[in-house]
Amino acid sequence: MCGIVGYIGKSAAPPILINGLRRLEYRGYDSAGMAIVDHGKIVVAKAAGKVANLNDKAKAEWPASRFTESSYGIAHTRWATHGPPTEVNAHPHLDQSGDIAVVHNGIIENYRSLRAKLEAKGSKFVSETDTEVLAHLIGDRYRGDLFQAVCDALHQVEGTFGIAVISAKEPGKIITARRGSPIVLGIASGETIVASDASAILSHTQRVIYLDDNDIALVTADHVDIRDLNNVPVNREISELEFDAGSAEKGGHEHFMLKEIFEQPDCLRNAIRGRLDFSIGSSVLSGMGTSPRDLAEIHRVVLVGCGTSLHSGLIGEYAIEDLADTLAEVQQAAEFRYRNPIIGRNDLVLAISQSGETADTLAAVREAHQKGAFVMGLCNVVGSTIARETGRGIYLHAGPEISVASTKAFTSQVAVLLMIALKLGRARRFSREDGLAFALGIESIPSLVEKVLESNDKIAQLAEGYLHQQHAFFIGRGPMYPVALEGALKLKEISYIHAEGYHAAELKHGPIALLEKGTPVIALANDIPGKDKTLGNIEECKARGARILGLITEGDEEAAAVMDDIITIPACHPLIATIPTAVALQLFAYHIARLRGCEIDQPRNLAKSVTVE
Ligand code: M6R
Repeated sequence: MCGIVGYIGKSAAPPILINGLRRLEYRGYDSAGMAIVDHGKIVVAKAAGKVANLNDKAKAEWPASRFTESSYGIAHTRWATHGPPTEVNAHPHLDQSGDIAVVHNGIIENYRSLRAKLEAKGSKFVSETDTEVLAHLIGDRYRGDLFQAVCDALHQVEGTFGIAVISAKEPGKIITARRGSPIVLGIASGETIVASDASAILSHTQRVIYLDDNDIALVTADHVDIRDLNNVPVNREISELEFDAGSAEKGGHEHFMLKEIFEQPDCLRNAIRGRLDFSIGSSVLSGMGTSPRDLAEIHRVVLVGCGTSLHSGLIGEYAIEDLADTLAEVQQAAEFRYRNPIIGRNDLVLAISQSGETADTLAAVREAHQKGAFVMGLCNVVGSTIARETGRGIYLHAGPEISVASTKAFTSQVAVLLMIALKLGRARRFSREDGLAFALGIESIPSLVEKVLESNDKIAQLAEGYLHQQHAFFIGRGPMYPVALEGALKLKEISYIHAEGYHAAELKHGPIALLEKGTPVIALANDIPGKDKTLGNIEECKARGARILGLITEGDEEAAAVMDDIITIPACHPLIATIPTAVALQLFAYHIARLRGCEIDQPRNLAKSVTVE
């Protein structure tokens, strides 16, 4: 949610800032801006809309020398929280003197009272943002030491922040700090990059330092000094990023989403590699840090997440109950904290998050820790806040997911959850033979997905028939129910068709009233227990004129006969079938959105990682 990049080093800053913003644009893309120091003064360029607009505007307004001479600056791409996405609300924001510029991710919760106090002291605000209040506050605290002024200001702030600050009075330094919103420092030779995520750093270096909450850093071209907000030095290790700049490129695909859909066989191999042990018919998930005895003592598994990660959690719930005979329940992460959940020391709380930064999921992690539960993270982004705060868990190894609509993270999450269920199951009643059969099923997932990807052209063709619809319904039973929810989410977020997922049995309890002649019903009628009932539900929809797209198991003539259109999924275990079925629905949503001319990678109103509650 919003992207920050700062650069200080031997090269000209503006082109680097613009490139960094382009890489971060998936985090927020409604307006953008940058600030540099030119001839002893802060100069700012801002534009509503995409980073490309900012580039055009800066080129039109700034003399060419600014693009070549200034060697440090800060920049931001915004996802509006306070005030609409206008040029005036875009970051950076300046203090009253105009000497200090600030970019900020997060929310300053007490900005109204701070603003009133600063106005009483003479501050004049031009924007509706909370960030401008922070800029004025830093200016108000400035007594000749920018680092100290930022520290002092942050002591007065309630809420979350990842910030980068420069001052015309203190050239050659960037001050950056975080609380609840990530900041990563890229450490290259003679240059330092400050960013809200590593994708803006990859083209410079793979050596990074992650700031912890309440860290503040003074950054120069060749030095980084990190302290806590009480000015006490803290030691933060340098880590090596696992992926390179190419992994954040489209690689010849029209959209990141399509690239990421097609990467899934490799991502799944990475998620599974080295984690199955056929000799014991189980999985080896060392990041869990648990012995079979610990696992046997787990009374209940609570899976928390949001959006797509919530849907993978729902599949995990089925898998854990089915394979491990263990109570499992999914809770929307935002609800978890506020409902005062009943959680004990024998409960395992699994926090599922691609980004590892989702504010609601992070809050759930903290609540679960507070209540003494055993907490683990299932994250994709290495070094993310949830990964670090949980301290134990399993990385997905899916590589950077740039498209706002999550695809490869979802299937990797499901694969990891199936391995967790297998491990828990083997610590309980699951026999070695059953475990082995299931482990072999997990091993086959990448090739099952490859098979579905071969249907890409066919799915693209089918999508043409569903293009002009206003509404669509996705139905499924058992573990296919969460897949139906995920299919509907994918369609609505990238094509703007109103889509809802329902349990197949639920339609007749109300939503069936919405069916008209030609309304699409996407029915997940794989050959799994409950299929006959689903076929019955489909007949009910057909009787009301709905047009049925069936996802059915290869060779299932009985199911095929009921559908108007079909996509076939290879035969496999019902839990395993959730993954190839989800991939088919991703392709379906993708092609509909493409044919409708939608902005697939950056859908309207959305942002990749939601770091506000
Ligand atoms: O990074 P997370 O997995 O925690 O993100 C959770 C949701 O915000 C995310 O899955 C969102 O629903 C995606 N846009 C779905 O495609």
